[in-house]
Amino acid sequence: MNASLEIRTDLRQAVFALSDALDLVGVDDYHHGKRVGLMAVECGRILGLETNDLNLLLDAGLLHDCGVSSTEVHHHLVEEMDWPGAQAHCERGNALLSAFAPLAPLAPLVLYHHTHWDQLPALELDERTQLFSNLIFLADRVDTLAAPHYGQQSLLFYRGRIRDTIARYGGTFFAPRLLEAFLHASDNEAFWLYLEPPHIHARLGEMAQYRQPQLIGYPQLRQLAEIFSRIVDAKSAFTVEHSHGVANLARLLGELAGLPEASQQKLEIAGLLHDLGKLRVPDEILEKPAKLTLEERAAMERHSFETYQILRRIPGLEEIARWAAYHHEAPDGEGYPFHRKGSELPLEARIISVADVFQALAQNRPYRAALPPAEVLDHLRQLAAAGHLDAEVVELAERHLDTCWRAATGGTL
Ligand SMILES: [Fe+2]
Ligand SMILES: [Fe+2]
Ligand SMILES: [Fe+2]
Repeated sequence: MNASLEIRTDLRQAVFALSDALDLVGVDDYHHGKRVGLMAVECGRILGLETNDLNLLLDAGLLHDCGVSSTEVHHHLVEEMDWPGAQAHCERGNALLSAFAPLAPLAPLVLYHHTHWDQLPALELDERTQLFSNLIFLADRVDTLAAPHYGQQSLLFYRGRIRDTIARYGGTFFAPRLLEAFLHASDNEAFWLYLEPPHIHARLGEMAQYRQPQLIGYPQLRQLAEIFSRIVDAKSAFTVEHSHGVANLARLLGELAGLPEASQQKLEIAGLLHDLGKLRVPDEILEKPAKLTLEERAAMERHSFETYQILRRIPGLEEIARWAAYHHEAPDGEGYPFHRKGSELPLEARIISVADVFQALAQNRPYRAALPPAEVLDHLRQLAAAGHLDAEVVELAERHLDTCWRAATGGTL
């Protein structure tokens, strides 16, 4: 394989960009993960923590809600101080992160980020895990209380009330040491104002500059992409394994088209990440058992653009970002959101589009049952004849229909 074609990227920057995808779950309440990370770091500084620990807290803040895909769960978590259903997303997040060695140190912090301080001793954790997970909890709860006031003239006015509320939970929900650090850090107006855009981006950008890059290649990038594909696919029971199936089929079609191994790997990553932007689509639209209204369609059609905005910021993934972003573009220029057409659409982007439609048709959806291979092919042919899908890629799928169907569904015929 030509070494220059290998994918290489910086894990730190990838995590940072991908945390934007998690922020999308807030729909209107953006940047929750970033604010939690930033607040945890500010408190950590007061506690005199070392740079490595501050970086760990920042990453834990960015990713602490990776177990949340559903907009409904997100609403509960940001609207209720102590929601009884909270532990499930901590466990999901822990399972996702502990499976990937470079991010595994974050897993215990995510697992206990809704556990009250006075319940932690019974779990026999080391002191650092107790303290750090509790700090994420504290920052998370502060953000819940502050969320309605960001971007409002009254943010600084409400900070006193937020500090008083948090202080009432010292010794029960939160470690007294952490409470003290928070009260110290948040006594400063700048603490609160840095949490709002555009200041939060500038602040996090500065922090990122001082971090050592951590280069990763295809196997690790694939694992990271797999984690995020699971977060996206978990959004609805109807999309479980969708991204995974698109990735498998896209790789297979790339191989059948005679593309080099490096392109096949990139196709796989693009397939895993193509629907990242769907995290912003409210659950009720994704799960609607009927045709979408024009307004709902408009909300849905943002998603591939959002995918692009996240991925294009990851160095080394520029091509992957384009292929993923074009998955609803069409050879006739009638797709969205860029209306690319003809030679503006690379073969790999056309492959992702076909794989996306193929997998979706082969899967149960709220408004119809899964279609068998012959019917999937019928639909693909019609779309190709109308200029919406690439005819040669569809022909390739036709020639290897059963293999393609198995790649897309993981099923046996
Ligand atoms: Fe949270
Ligand atoms: Fe899509
Ligand atoms: Fe898709």
